[in-house]
Parts: sequence; structure tokens; C-alpha cells
Amino acid sequence: MLGWLSWQVRRRRRYRPAVLEALLADLAQTAPDHLAITGDLTQIALASELREAADWLARFGPAERVHAIPGNHDAYAALPREGGWQYWSDYLAGDRPSAPLRGVANDAFPSVRVRGELALVGVCTAQPTPPFAATGSVGEEQLARLDAELEALGGAGLCRVVLIHHPPVAGLTTRRRSLLDARAFGDVLRRRGAELVLHGHLHRTTLASLPGPERAIPVIGVPSASHAGPSAKRCAAYHLYKIERADRGFAIRRRVRAWDPALGRFTARGVEEPL
Ligand SMILES: [Fe+2]
Repeated sequence: MLGWLSWQVRRRRRYRPAVLEALLADLAQTAPDHLAITGDLTQIALASELREAADWLARFGPAERVHAIPGNHDAYAALPREGGWQYWSDYLAGDRPSAPLRGVANDAFPSVRVRGELALVGVCTAQPTPPFAATGSVGEEQLARLDAELEALGGAGLCRVVLIHHPPVAGLTTRRRSLLDARAFGDVLRRRGAELVLHGHLHRTTLASLPGPERAIPVIGVPSASHAGPSAKRCAAYHLYKIERADRGFAIRRRVRAWDPALGRFTARGVEEPL
């Protein structure tokens, strides 16, 4: 009920379908090879919202080139065993068959996709929380699977990009909105490494890092895909990454495309930068 009120009173005025339409139009121009969507896809995970989000996902492209993970709003209350995230199953899935998507159990994650020298590793932190909390956690079992996946993918020389909804770096948000086992997640990354971590949840662009076995791992937060502004910090945006093999590992460059309320379309914000 609180989530529904938040939507009716405040959020529905800020998060606009027209902005998401403009983002789709901009993506048709920039044409990335693969999309990563770090949640949330819904407000309170009603069955009607889950179905509507499936229609939006289809508009972003076929599941083979659109990889999504759920956020805390997608697990606002306990989901039914059938008819929950199953609407999005092709978009949540990795390349290998996984455990079925039952309720909000995260046995199906991490979801790993390999595209050329890129490995996308989708982690699930979504779970129902008490009122006024927006926390998440990876959980010991998923962390053990993540540890093994990162080791294997790193051993194969792939560029590992980890997708996680909650920011996994301490201090980026309040405890009430935090990743409860961020320290354990950080321990896995320090041990096994990754080339990049992408997260959502904060609805603004953030740049942080986590220690890796050899060098710091960039951790980047992306704004919402539909926030209409006018705050430039909050305006909808997406990030484009160019990943190329370099002498030591991979060279990753990023550029930002953001909603411009005055022009009514997405434009470049800043210049392309190395991470
Ligand atoms: Fe969130």
C-alpha cells in the first residue's frame, strides 16, 4: 500500500513513458550490440506491471541481446510461484539453463552470458523488505556461485561485467537502501576480480570502485531510464560502453546519453571517457 501511494502521489509524475519512448528512439540511433538493464522494472510488482514490463522489454530488442536483472521494486511483496518473473524469463536468463524462476528465490542467478570476449554476469539482490526499507542481498549460496563463475570466466580471459541492482560500495546510500552483504560481495571481487560492475537503484550517475586482485574495479551507477527531470542529476540517462582488448586486459570507454527536458530528446552529456 505504501509503494502504491508513493507512485500515485509522487513518482508517476516524474517517471514518464514518453521519456522511455525517447530513450528507445535514441537507442535505435546508437545501436549498441547488447543491452544491460539493472532494474527496477516495476513499482510494486503487481501482475499487471510485470506483464507491462515484459512488453517494454520486447521493445528494447530480442532477449538474445537484452540482459535484465530484477531490482527491489520487482520483489516488493512475495511473488507467486508462477506468473512472477517468469514473464521476463528469456531476458533474465543466462546462456546455460538455470534453476526455474520461482517467487523471488534467486537460485537462477548469477545469469551468465558470453558474447565474444564479453561475459555479462547478472546478480540478483531483489527481495521483499519491511515498510520504508529498500535493502537487498546476494546471499551466501549465490555468492559461492558468483565466486566460481568469476574465477572460470577470468581464467578464460573474458571481460567480466557484473550487473547488480544495489550499489555494492559502502557509503553510496543509506543503510535503509543498502546492499546488506556488500562486504561479502566485495570479498568475492577482491579475490576473483572483474573488469566492470554496473548497478542501478540510486537513479543517478555515480562512479566508485572496489579493490580487485590486481587493480581497482570501476563500479558505475546509472540513472533511471524514464525520469523526466527537471533536475539534471536525476534526469533519465543511459551509458554506452566501448570495450576493446588492450595490452593488460581490456580498455573500457564510456559515454553518457541523457534526457534533455528542453529539447525533448536524449543528447550526449560530456565526452567519451576511459574508465
Ligand atoms: Fe531499486
